[in-house]
Amino acid sequence: MKILAIETSCDETAAAVVENKTRILSSVVRSQVKEHGMYGGVVPEIASRRHVECITAIVKKALKDAGETMGSIDAVAVTAGPGLVGALLVGVNFAKGLAFAADKPLIPVHHIRGHIAACYLADPPASPPFICLAISGGHSHIIAVDGYTRFRVLGRTRDDAAGEAFDKAARAMGLGYPGGPAIQAAALQSADDNRYRLPNPKVEGHPLDFSFSGLKTSVVNLLHNAGQKCEAVDINALAAAFEKTICEALVVRLTAAALNTGMKTMGIAGGVSANLRLRGMLTEAAAQNNLDLCLPPLWLTGDNAVMVAAQAFYEYEAGNRAPDELNAVATLSVNYQNPAVFAV
Ligand code: KG4
Ligand code: ZN
Repeated sequence: MKILAIETSCDETAAAVVENKTRILSSVVRSQVKEHGMYGGVVPEIASRRHVECITAIVKKALKDAGETMGSIDAVAVTAGPGLVGALLVGVNFAKGLAFAADKPLIPVHHIRGHIAACYLADPPASPPFICLAISGGHSHIIAVDGYTRFRVLGRTRDDAAGEAFDKAARAMGLGYPGGPAIQAAALQSADDNRYRLPNPKVEGHPLDFSFSGLKTSVVNLLHNAGQKCEAVDINALAAAFEKTICEALVVRLTAAALNTGMKTMGIAGGVSANLRLRGMLTEAAAQNNLDLCLPPLWLTGDNAVMVAAQAFYEYEAGNRAPDELNAVATLSVNYQNPAVFAV
């Protein structure tokens, strides 16, 4: 079975063809990072317009690279939420038209379920049950993946997502957008992770939850106070302290969730899971606690359509098809059971 998948939930226009769950026939990703960079973050209106401009060419290229046509594709899948509604609508409407015209089943995919599915394509791959840390620009969740379409959220951020915290802190430090890779690069230049002390992003009484906004505020305050006193700030050391604080919080909670639930495997997913310090710290934590660790390849951590296709196979097997009224939804729990939730 071959699935053509489309992803437009944020600032990447992506299409891919995957055969029988794991055989990647093509993957095309067109990033808008340059367009949004000058504004220091994603501008939703610009994102939607860029998706409209390039989606036809991206889908055509994904089919061509795979050596397929719509006639040889068995189903179309599309990210229908969560994400920026205007951006999502471009992919959703394109996929609806394509599936209708070619008379193929249409499968709606939850963006975070898609990110988690990158773990099924890792080497070695994970398979449920496992504990997954889903960390992107919009999400920071610790999720028990009980089955391919069954999830429990065990911990979550109370305010900013991990990627959002990286992006906002990088902006305050003058490091540019996207903030995660910029902070990682600056931190690698620093020999001292402990020069600055930042608050632990904990939530009293909820050991698996995070609160990243206080961390971001303390970076902003530190820079502001130093500026007022005309003191220099070692930005590389501040980036290192910030990255270390976030990574420690993520690693402690993911490991605790695995030990609490008795699950033997930990996985990571989403744009922030590309972070090299996080990967190193998790590798150590897994070894210390005798847990398996699934690290998807870096090219599958950011938004792409391969992961959407990978999840779509399991949605298809579970009988999940798009309702005729398929719409885009900005927020949606990862644990919905009926795809009718996408028809609001
Ligand atoms: O999953 P993703 O590509 O898009 C969303 O669904 O949001 O995640 C994007 C986020 C951005 O906030 C970006 O700064 C962050 O992932 N990111 C990183 C790294 N690479 C990307 N954060 C930390 N370290 C990285 N190496
Ligand atoms: Zn994403």
